[in-house]
Amino acid sequence: MSPAGNLVTVESHILDLQRMHPSASGDFTSLLNDIAFAAKIISREVGRAGLVEDILGSTGEENIQGEIVQRLDEYANRIMLSCLGRRGQCCMLASEELEKPVLREVGSGSGSYVVVFDPLDGSSNIDANVSIGTIFSIYRRRTINGPAQDEDLLQPGSKLLAAGYVIYGSSTMFVYTTGHGAHGFTLDPGIGEFLLSHENLSIPFAGDIYSVNEGNEPKWDSRVREIVRRLKYGRDDETDGMSARYIGSLVADFHRNMLYGGVFLYPAHTGSPDGKLRLLYEAAPLAMIAEQAGGYGSNGHSPILDIQPDSLHQRVPLYIGSRETVLWIEKMMADSTLGAGL
Ligand code: AHG
Ligand code: MN
Ligand code: MN
Repeated sequence: MSPAGNLVTVESHILDLQRMHPSASGDFTSLLNDIAFAAKIISREVGRAGLVEDILGSTGEENIQGEIVQRLDEYANRIMLSCLGRRGQCCMLASEELEKPVLREVGSGSGSYVVVFDPLDGSSNIDANVSIGTIFSIYRRRTINGPAQDEDLLQPGSKLLAAGYVIYGSSTMFVYTTGHGAHGFTLDPGIGEFLLSHENLSIPFAGDIYSVNEGNEPKWDSRVREIVRRLKYGRDDETDGMSARYIGSLVADFHRNMLYGGVFLYPAHTGSPDGKLRLLYEAAPLAMIAEQAGGYGSNGHSPILDIQPDSLHQRVPLYIGSRETVLWIEKMMADSTLGAGL
C-alpha cells in the first residue's frame, strides 16, 4: 500500500504541468498519458511473460539493427504503436524495431508531435527475468503541416519537449521530464496507477560506481582502456577505485545511476566505431533526463543533446551519469598523451 501521502498519479502530475501553459490544447498531456497507459500494458505482459504462451524467446526474425527480435520486443512495439496518438496528436512515430518512421495522417490542426521510442530495452535479458525497460522522446514537429518530414524527426536532443523511460524491475517505474525536473512514479498494481514516488530526482554530483561491458576491453582504444583502468584503480594516489555494476539493460544501469550516482559507459570500439547505443531513442532521451537531474550525458567529447542526428538509427558512444565523473572522462578523452585513438 503506498504511503497515504503520495496519491499523486502520473496523470494528475502531467495535468498540473499543463496548467503552466494556459493556451495548451491538452494534446501533449494526452500523449504523455497514452505512453503511461502503454507502459501499464507492457508491464502486465512482462510480469507474466514466463506464464503466457509465446511471449518469451525470439521471433527468429532480425530487425534493422541486425539483432534477433524477441517476442516481447515485437509485443511492446505493437502496444506503443496502438496506444500512442489515438487522438491524432502525432504526425510521426519512430521505433527501434521499425526501419522507417510511421506517418500518421494529420488531423484537423493536430498532429504536432513526433515520438521516437525503444519499445523494449535490454532484450537480451528478457528470458533471464532481468530488469528491462522502454525509452521515449517527444519532439514538436518543425514543418507546419502536411505529412511529417525527416526534419521533424532528425532533431537534436536539445529540442526535446519531453523524454522518459519505464523500468520493468522489482517494481515498474515511470520516469519522465518535460524540462521541469525529472520525476519518478511507481506502479501500484492493486489500483493500476503510477503514483509519485521520486519527485525531483537528483543524480549525486560524483559517484563510486562505474558500469561498462568489460568484455569489450580488447576492442577499446588505449584512452578508453586507461579511463576505465583509473575508474577501477583510482584516478590518483588519493582516490579509491570504484565498484563495478553492469546489468546489460541500459535503462536499469541508467536508473541505478539516477539514484546512486556513478557513470555508465558504452564506448566506441573496433566492432562498433560509432558505439552501440542509438542517439534518438536511447542516448538523447536519457541525456535530457540526466541533465534535468543535475547529471550529464556525453559522447566522450561533447553533450549528447547537441548532436544533430542524420539518421533514425544512428549510433553514438555514450558516457552518462554523475556530472563530475562524465566531465572528467571528457577531459581524459581530450588528453592526447593517453594514447592514439581508434
Ligand atoms: P536493446 O535491447 O533495445 O537493443 O538495447 C540493448 C542495449 C542496452 O540495453 C544495453 O546497455 C546494451 O545493449 C548492452 O550491450 P552489450 O550486451 O553489448 O553490453
Ligand atoms: Mn535499447
Ligand atoms: Mn530495444
